Amino acid sequence: MAGTKDHLIGLLLGAEEDWPQAFEQILRFVGPLKVDGTEHRIASERLTIEPFDLTDPVRTGLVIDRLAHWYFHPREWLKKAALVNGTYLLNSPFTFQSMEKHSAYCAMIRLGLKVPPTILVPYKNPVDNHRWTFTSEKYNKPFDLDLLAAELGYPLYMKPFDGGGWRGVSRVNDRSDLHTAYDDSGEMLMHLQATVDYDHFARALSIGPETMVMDFRPEEPMHQRYHVSHGFLSESAGKQVVAVSRIVNAFFHWEFNSAEMLVKGDDVYPIDYANACPDVAVTSLHYYFPWAISALVKWSTYCLVTGRRPNLDLEMTTYFEIADSDRTYDEKLDAYLALADEHFETERYHAWCAEHLGHLDEAVAQWVSGQDFDRLLVETVQATYPRHEQEQFLAHFRGLVGMWVHDRAAS
Ligand SMILES: Nc1ncnc2c1ncn2[C@@H]1O[C@H](COP(=O)(O)OP(=O)(O)OP(=O)(O)O)[C@@H](O)[C@H]1O
Ligand SMILES: [Mg+2]
Repeated sequence: MAGTKDHLIGLLLGAEEDWPQAFEQILRFVGPLKVDGTEHRIASERLTIEPFDLTDPVRTGLVIDRLAHWYFHPREWLKKAALVNGTYLLNSPFTFQSMEKHSAYCAMIRLGLKVPPTILVPYKNPVDNHRWTFTSEKYNKPFDLDLLAAELGYPLYMKPFDGGGWRGVSRVNDRSDLHTAYDDSGEMLMHLQATVDYDHFARALSIGPETMVMDFRPEEPMHQRYHVSHGFLSESAGKQVVAVSRIVNAFFHWEFNSAEMLVKGDDVYPIDYANACPDVAVTSLHYYFPWAISALVKWSTYCLVTGRRPNLDLEMTTYFEIADSDRTYDEKLDAYLALADEHFETERYHAWCAEHLGHLDEAVAQWVSGQDFDRLLVETVQATYPRHEQEQFLAHFRGLVGMWVHDRAAS
């Protein structure tokens, strides 16, 4: 007799309400799925923070985390869940330490990708440690900051090795900027990085094997950063942006990450690859929001129902063998991408979605055009903006989401 199988997805959340509600609603549209004679029922639950015994069982088969990057109790719970319980996590908690830009730069350099020339300089101010004076006197080699900067060329960027949120980032135009920025860096550890004089800033949000490449405008206020434009990159650059994002994600075992690349002509320069568990608020993503939350639901469902196993071994050498071969840059990219697609089961995933989740996109479009989604949007705008700006922003986001509904129907 055909059995039933229940699956539970855990959501580990910070302050946001918009995408979790959208996720919960879209998951309800999935409904029970009949796969190979078994009926699969999938539900989600918001996880709470409480003491845990290191041997406690974990009830949720898969966890989507948006909290552990700043709250360390759940971060340690995730590591226990991964090691003790085999819980499926979208991002490996063990490469969380590599969430700083620096490790991702190193990995990409090793793979032969086009990271702009980057130098790590020692701290400007001593670290708070009683051994500092001795170590510094004996081992800290004096260095010529001006010379390093001259080698990279002005203008250059000075930014923390583990950056995020534009904290401590400066564009350095000359010697005077250089010394001001370094003096101000204090106890932050800084990279100096050559400037890429880019035509486009491409931001690629990846969820499992799905990647959305967006035209990002970092200089704009939050609600206008993701510009809605299609085909803004050449065919070659577009292909590289997708490939590089998927390769880095597969390399670190990240399945929910947002990558930043500067594109000049057909050249793609990765500058920030480590934004695991990125912001997916409707007030940031607007037009792309229904796609993003649907992709989260689809990938989670796929992983649970097909019994995809988490794998904590990175097997980096398979990538390094390609890096060390005499292939060209394009050939290497193709070979890495083949490894990444194998890791993400890309082909099987798309075929599986077509077979079992064919109804979902239409259900999401219906919901996004209706009153319940509008209520969510109103509540989010009210929670995000001061009263006198709410009307304007509501119109802005209604317009962009409406455009998504329209474009989808037309495609
Ligand atoms: N090498 C570079 N060449 C040109 N522009 C750069 C370079 N590095 C950084 N920038 C600019 O500085 C901004 C912030 O840099 P970066 O993304 O590395 O820092 P961040 O702290 O992660 O900021 P965010 O959270 O906005 O992404 C980028 O959006 C880009 O506009
Ligand atoms: Mg960044």
